[in-house]
Amino acid sequence: MADEFAIESSLKEKRRFEPDPKWSRAALVPGKAAYRRMVKEAEKDFRRYWARHAKENVSWFTPWKKILDWKPPRARWFVGGKTNVSYNCLDRHLEGENAWRKNKAAIIWEGEPGDRRVLTYGDLHREVCKFANVLKDRGVKKGDRVILYMPLVPELAIAMLACTRIGAVHSIIFGGFSADAIRDRTNDAEARVIVTADGGWRRGQIVRLKDMVDEAIDGGAAVNQVIVLQRTGHDVPMKAGRDLWWHDLMADASPVCKPAKLDSEHPLFILYTSGSTGKPKGILHTTGGYLTHVATTSKYIFDLKETDTYWCTADIGWITGHSYVVYGMLANGATSVMYEGAPNWPDEERFWQIIDRYRVTIFYTAPTAIRTFMKWGADHVKKYDLSSLRLLGTVGEPINPEAWMWYRRVIGHNRCPIVDTWWQTETGGILISPVPGAVATTPGSATLPFPGIFPDIVNEQGESCGPDEGGYLVIKKPWPGMLRGIHGDPERFREQYWSKFDGIYFTGDGARRDRNGYFWVMGRVDDVMNVAGHRLSTMEVESALVSHPKVAEAAVVGRPDEIKGTAVVGFVSLEGDVAFDASLAEELRSHVAREIGPVARPDEVRIAAALPKTRSGKIMRRLLRDVAAGRETTGDTTTLEDFSVLASLRQDEE
Ligand code: WT7
Repeated sequence: MADEFAIESSLKEKRRFEPDPKWSRAALVPGKAAYRRMVKEAEKDFRRYWARHAKENVSWFTPWKKILDWKPPRARWFVGGKTNVSYNCLDRHLEGENAWRKNKAAIIWEGEPGDRRVLTYGDLHREVCKFANVLKDRGVKKGDRVILYMPLVPELAIAMLACTRIGAVHSIIFGGFSADAIRDRTNDAEARVIVTADGGWRRGQIVRLKDMVDEAIDGGAAVNQVIVLQRTGHDVPMKAGRDLWWHDLMADASPVCKPAKLDSEHPLFILYTSGSTGKPKGILHTTGGYLTHVATTSKYIFDLKETDTYWCTADIGWITGHSYVVYGMLANGATSVMYEGAPNWPDEERFWQIIDRYRVTIFYTAPTAIRTFMKWGADHVKKYDLSSLRLLGTVGEPINPEAWMWYRRVIGHNRCPIVDTWWQTETGGILISPVPGAVATTPGSATLPFPGIFPDIVNEQGESCGPDEGGYLVIKKPWPGMLRGIHGDPERFREQYWSKFDGIYFTGDGARRDRNGYFWVMGRVDDVMNVAGHRLSTMEVESALVSHPKVAEAAVVGRPDEIKGTAVVGFVSLEGDVAFDASLAEELRSHVAREIGPVARPDEVRIAAALPKTRSGKIMRRLLRDVAAGRETTGDTTTLEDFSVLASLRQDEE
């Protein structure tokens, strides 16, 4: 076992796991030859390849006239085609040869306190139609934006699908975000309606969502209607004329609602994500291409069969939840497990208990979670029967080979393939991942592009890098699930993704490709930190710190962290003669959590008399990163001289 964990450097990684022939034979892509045919087909004509998938995996009311209209950076897929996402996720499983799915579980849900619900496709269809009618009655029209700020409950999926049914555009705000974050996103999206809940459960505590919404509206979120789901049952004030209970509205709603016939390029959702400037970007995804991409990748990368019970642990508030808890799964008529709460409530066995209880066959989670499970120890896992599992997946950040091997051995009992899936909020769906049963895996590598996706690694001049040469990860051809823009900011869209290399999508990630053509993603090259699989911009946390009255200036950097991948460290210089001590550090950490949300709470706040800067006034984060990582001489974090000394040294250097 010792040597199994010895090799940590991915450059030296030699372990390779060929697909098990028995597994391959039963797979949707049954082995290497079938995979090569897919690759060939895509290379010959990627447009026709995607059109075939759009026909096979999506139902259309009206066929498209043109597969792709590509005027960089503007892409339109399946131009002239008409479809509806809720129709694809629901109605078509209730009619024709698939009518038997009416009583198949669409969602198996477990609340943190232990309550359980199963919604069949028939149930889900009925609830979605009713809520679509509720939205219509509230005056929501095609194209209107609706904010969803909810716990991980079936009603969140119901609200999403109800929006898509009538052509409203949802924008989900993760339930851990603060009132300010809600206000900014709501106003940027120009939404008039928020759907929320009284609260949700997290580690035995109530997360008071409705209070946050009230605070956001008091703080200037320009909405005039709030629909409130009763989840936790605690008292919440309801403002007459503005706030309405979900259950009251649903009581008289009709269960009949025709799906709107929407243009393939009709906006489906806006999801906010961090960029390298302080302001979150509203990533826009549209209908037909997105659905084709997530339905196709769900099917082949998770090798979905009718009998599977699939569980992705991501919150629906992130892109992973949109694409691979809800849309990709339901479009395939699959059974998706949802769990509301924390992995360690009431204890560290919860996840394994859930896998055992529902006989989960496919499990998809994040490296940060796997490292946490490793820390908690294999004993918790061993108490449960995980023999139902047949496929494992990871997403969100590079996975270190040690965690990969642990996942394979302890969770997968050395018999489940692992799909390490690389993608982004912007890409809509998975772009680089092994296809299980067909592609050999190697710990730490996301392996090969999904057929039909054309990534490359290039240097500053845009030339392809050689084997094992590090460079920028780019995508050279358009793909169906690609973002169509940043809401309200076409200039930023162009600048951020399409200006570094002309007409080629820039991911913001650094990567290398080995001699086998396998991709090794190394992480972000911009001022974005990947904390526990989620993107945070250094600028965003900095502006939250500076908004505290005692802070004059702030610089934020990431520090390598065993569990979270990256820990957030803030350096602050203070106003006037304010003194720095542990309680102020704590106050500043909480301040950031209040401003942005607990995800952004710095792990550490340090004092700096002055921040090290270049002569042009740019903060030298590179230097601070060294200090944060403990690569400085003493352990004394409150000495100021180090910084100025280091800074002046570096200044002379530049
Ligand atoms: C960034 C995107 C994709 C849904 C979750 C995060 C990093 C994501 C991997 C992976 C190495 C990965 C990248 C990417 N990332 N998956 N398998 N291996 N890095 O979505 O918040 O949009 O973040 O996460 O740096 O650019 P996101």
